[in-house]
Amino acid sequence: MRLHFGGDHAGVGLKAEMIALARELGHEVTDHGTTSTDSVDYPDYAHTVARAVLADAESRGVLICGTGIGVSMAANRHAGIRAAVCHDVFSARATRAHNDANVLCMGARVVGPGLAGAILEAFLAGAFEGGRHERRVSKIEIDSAL
Ligand code: RB5
Repeated sequence: MRLHFGGDHAGVGLKAEMIALARELGHEVTDHGTTSTDSVDYPDYAHTVARAVLADAESRGVLICGTGIGVSMAANRHAGIRAAVCHDVFSARATRAHNDANVLCMGARVVGPGLAGAILEAFLAGAFEGGRHERRVSKIEIDSAL
């Protein structure tokens, strides 16, 4: 799978570890930065990753900031992006199965690399269940709500 990674200075260490894991698992990774601990603005990276995912429907995004919250807020402003903050494996599985999430957001100040890796693996392995969830997911976009 093609994966687009991004995040701010708070997420840079965990992002590097998650990129290494994703490559080990055989995924094709693009790192959209940031690549240093110098202070940056998380929306810049969230918007870049959101645009990259929208440009390649088969890809997924992974965004990491301090909490995972800021990057998710910014990414979710893009129609077609369903960014989910997950800090447990159950949520990572469920958001793929029920919400067809296409961007995983995590907080490097919330989870350590062991749990984050398990969350990432669950997210990447998860498949959308479709069925009744298809209708619900289609209603997430304001313009398509009934
Ligand atoms: C940066 O200090 C921090 O605010 C950011 O990484 C993130 O947690 C925002 O939601």
